[in-house]
Amino acid sequence: DFSVVTEVVTHKLNHIPIFKGDFSSLPPKVQRFVAEKAELMNPAGIYICDGSQKEADDIIDKLVERGVLTPLKAYENNYLCRTDPRDVARVESKTFMVTKEKYDSVCRVPEGVKGIMGQWMSEEQFGVELDARFPGCMNGRPMYVIPFSMGPIGGPLSKIGIELTDSSYVVLCMRTMTRMGTKVLDSLGDNDFVRCIHSVGLPRPVRQKVINHWPCNPEKVLIAHRPKEREIWSFGSGYGGNSLLGKKCFALRIACNIGRDEGWMAEHMLIMGITNPEGKERFVAAAFPSACGKTNLAMLEPSVPGWKVRVVGDDIAWMKFNKNDGRLYAINPEAGFFGVAPGTSHKTNPMAMESFQKNSIFTNVAETADGEYFWEGLEKELKEKRGYNDEELKHLEITNWLGERWHIGDAGKSAHPNSRFTAPAGQCPIIHPKWEAPEGVPIDAIIFGGRRPEGVPLVYESFSWEHGVLIGSLVKSEATAAAEYTGKQVMHDPMAMRPFMGYNFGRYLQHWLDLGKAPHKAPKIFHVNWFRETSDHKFLWPGFGDNIRVLDWILKRVDGVEDIAEKTAIGFIPKRGSVDLSELPRINWNELMSIPKHYWEEDVVESRQFLQAQVGPDMPKVLYDQLDQLEKRVKEM
Ligand code: PEP
Ligand code: NA
Ligand code: MN
Repeated sequence: DFSVVTEVVTHKLNHIPIFKGDFSSLPPKVQRFVAEKAELMNPAGIYICDGSQKEADDIIDKLVERGVLTPLKAYENNYLCRTDPRDVARVESKTFMVTKEKYDSVCRVPEGVKGIMGQWMSEEQFGVELDARFPGCMNGRPMYVIPFSMGPIGGPLSKIGIELTDSSYVVLCMRTMTRMGTKVLDSLGDNDFVRCIHSVGLPRPVRQKVINHWPCNPEKVLIAHRPKEREIWSFGSGYGGNSLLGKKCFALRIACNIGRDEGWMAEHMLIMGITNPEGKERFVAAAFPSACGKTNLAMLEPSVPGWKVRVVGDDIAWMKFNKNDGRLYAINPEAGFFGVAPGTSHKTNPMAMESFQKNSIFTNVAETADGEYFWEGLEKELKEKRGYNDEELKHLEITNWLGERWHIGDAGKSAHPNSRFTAPAGQCPIIHPKWEAPEGVPIDAIIFGGRRPEGVPLVYESFSWEHGVLIGSLVKSEATAAAEYTGKQVMHDPMAMRPFMGYNFGRYLQHWLDLGKAPHKAPKIFHVNWFRETSDHKFLWPGFGDNIRVLDWILKRVDGVEDIAEKTAIGFIPKRGSVDLSELPRINWNELMSIPKHYWEEDVVESRQFLQAQVGPDMPKVLYDQLDQLEKRVKEM
């Protein structure tokens, strides 16, 4: 009953002013959400975001004045943000799923084994943690109300969330990464939404030193999800994956729960359209762990003439089988790119470079004295741009991500290894014309991959959907800087979802198996490895634009071309000569494609141990059957 709601709300907001927007025009459910949480967190006032350019400009002006953002003068509307150096990555150890039943969240792993596919927190414990953080946590700060849509507003696959935050950096980034503002509220009406609550966790008056004008509370970080309630509570960190709650928290952890309930999938995948020289376009989705080059692959510039790649998404795919034609359709729920900056250059990803020449935010990168961004991987193009010799390049004045004077060749890195660009997807010159198609694009192949220096060939194709799901469940990769891990050890990252899993991983695998059954036309599943090395640690494959040669083979297989594949123990691999290697420097094909029996014997044993330890009795039997068959084929090699 609207009148009752309004009364209650008005009462609750009595002592909290509205800084901007019209509270009474919010849908009643949103009013109640805002009022309840304002009551809890006690902000200085409420700022309802409309999503307009003027609003963004006003916020930017204020942040520049306060020193939170620095204009990068070499570009139009580009800004640098330096965070507290303790707040630079996702914090997986503080990330939890909160459910009544433990095993709704995590697998029944054997006694004594630490589960890696998500962490569970009881409702009771969550209540305690919440009480220790959120009451009064926005004291003295504005509370921004961000209505946002994941996916095109009103689309059949899209979902709406409301994020409450005390970080204006979050407002700016959410405006780029999602469709944000009043239009979303119009579309929402009185429907439900995902409730997102974020606080940097440092109420005023602040008793500790704020570093780089970046309030945060590293000791008390908590990223908690209540999937049943469709609710996210994030405290203490302003970093992307912890604070832009539409992204990993909603579009993966919460959405995979919604997808399970509603019969679709939320995956850590890029989506790209690939047009061959004959003009035929196909779409593929690819899952790689963080920092394996999803963004680079999605925006690849083909080295072979006649091919065209266009990006639909670079990080997340929401996919649903269509009732009419049985095919799998995917949307990119995001509206921007939140990409790893270091390593991005005109050589490795020219289209990403074009995407962030304006209207972008750079977090924890370095800056040249001329107001350009800088990071590892840009040395060569900067040298060429300036026409410098090596000596001149070394004297170039750079301010590193910590705000210190720095020169090329100095110790340490200029930019944090997990420094990021936040750029509107629409600015990418090769954004696909259908990237905002509400119904999505039809997916013909799913590709898994990881950084595998050893043992794993450039590409192989699964024998069936079930075999493909097993391959996905066994994805491994070298560790990345995107979370708190260090070093180069190869880690399991099943389906590239390890850090983003929102419910019991065994049930998630079963959901995949179920969805691949007829009448659904399941896409073919492949595995790629761009990162295989020689024994003296040189890459065997050039990667980047040359990956089109592998995609060419994959798409021929999708089209049913048979005489290009050879059956091996692990899957179909390209017959010699069926991947176009023309114009490439010499490729050691034998080493690149070899399937060492000894390596795979050990890998199968390790895989079984992993699945038994980490999925345990929740592992679908069909997949153990697939593993048995793989083991048998490897033995017979
Ligand atoms: C993130 O940390 O916000 C993020 C996008 O992570 P990743 O690059 O690991 O996907
Ligand atoms: Na800062
Ligand atoms: Mn990602």
